[in-house]
Amino acid sequence: MPPLDSSPIRNFDALSEDHMPEDIVARETQIAEMRACLSPAERGLKPIHAWLHGRPGTGKTTIARYVTSQLEHNTRVESVYVNCWQHSTLFMVLQGIVEALRIIVPDNANTVVKLHRIRSKMKSSPLIVVLDEIDKTEPKERDRILYTLSSVSTVGTVAISNSRSSLFELEDRVRSRLGPTLIAFDPYRVQDLYRILEARVKLSLAPTAYSAEVIERIATLAAGDARVAIQTLLKAAQLAESQGTRTISVDQITEAASAARKLKTQYTLAKMTEHHKLLYDLVVSAPQTTTSVLWASYQQRCQALDKRPIAERTFNLYIHTLVVKGLIERERAAVLGNVYTVRPAA
Ligand SMILES: Nc1ncnc2c1ncn2[C@@H]1O[C@H](COP(=O)(O)OP(=O)(O)OP(=O)(O)O)[C@@H](O)[C@H]1O
Ligand SMILES: [Mg+2]
Repeated sequence: MPPLDSSPIRNFDALSEDHMPEDIVARETQIAEMRACLSPAERGLKPIHAWLHGRPGTGKTTIARYVTSQLEHNTRVESVYVNCWQHSTLFMVLQGIVEALRIIVPDNANTVVKLHRIRSKMKSSPLIVVLDEIDKTEPKERDRILYTLSSVSTVGTVAISNSRSSLFELEDRVRSRLGPTLIAFDPYRVQDLYRILEARVKLSLAPTAYSAEVIERIATLAAGDARVAIQTLLKAAQLAESQGTRTISVDQITEAASAARKLKTQYTLAKMTEHHKLLYDLVVSAPQTTTSVLWASYQQRCQALDKRPIAERTFNLYIHTLVVKGLIERERAAVLGNVYTVRPAA
C-alpha cells in the first residue's frame, strides 16, 4: 500500500456534478447567442425567449447557469432557475419562482394568486426564468407553463431540452407567442473534452496520477458527453486509489468508462416514464429488432403486466426520445414503409 500522500485524488469537489467551471470550454458561440437574447434585460426590456437543445452532457445547464449568474453579478437583472423534472406543473413552476423571489403568498394560494404576485413584483424589472428539463413535463402542462410565463410582460424564458422536438410539440399559439431563439449544443469533439478534462485534472488529481494519454483516452471514450468524461475520470481515479496505483492505467480507464456509461443509462432512465423503461428493456433483451416487432412485444408485455399500453403514435415518440437520449440507435430497415431496426446504443 503506498503512503497516503501518494493518493491520486487531491480534491473531489472539482469532479462533482455541481462544480461550476471557471473557464467554459468550446461554448463561445452558445454563450454569445444566449447573451444576445438576454441583453435587452440590461436596458430594462423583456428578454428574448431562448430554447437550448442538445444531447445529454453537452453543457446546456452549465452554460445557462453561467450566463445568468454573470448577468446577475454584473447588472441588476434577476433570474430564477427551475428544474421542471422536479417542478413539472404550472403550479409547481410558479411556486419555484415565488420562493426564489422571496414573495410571500398564503399557503393555499392558487396559480392566479401566485402569478398576480409575480407580475406585481416584476412590474417594471425584467426577469429571466430558466426552465431546465422542460421536456420532462407533459405536453399540455408544458403549453400552460410557457403560455403563462410568456404572457408576463417582463419575463424572458430560457427553456432547456434534449431535442427541438419538444418545441415543435407545443400548441401553435404557444410556439408563436414564444418565438424563441434556438441555440444548439452539439456533442463535444474529442479535443474539447480533452480541454475540459485537462482543467479538471489540474484541480482534482495529483500530477503523478495522469498523463496526456490518460486524458485523451477518456475524452475519446466519452463520445461527446462531458458528464460521462468527468465521471470516467473520477471512477478511474477511484480505481487507482483502491488498487494502490499512483498513475491511472489503461485497464482502469476501460473499466471506469463502462461504469460511467451504465451510470448515464440509469440516470437518464430514472427521469423517464415506466413505458420508456419497458421499451428500453425490450430493446436490450432483443437487440437488433425492428420497430414493428417491438410494438407487438411491447403490447404483449403490457398485457402480461396488466398495464394499459401507450398509443402507437406515442410509442413512435418514445422511441424517438430514447434515440435522442442516446440510449438506443435506430436505422431505417431495408423493407418498405416506416420500419426501423433498433438496438441498444454502443
Ligand atoms: N464547456 C464546458 N466546460 C467545462 N465543463 C463542462 C462544459 N460543458 C459541460 N461541462 C461539465 O459537464 C457536466 C455535464 O454538463 P451539463 O450538466 O451542463 O450538461 P447538460 O447538457 O445540461 O446535460 P443533460 O441534458 O443531461 O441535463 C457538468 O459537470 C459540467 O460542469
Ligand atoms: Mg442539464
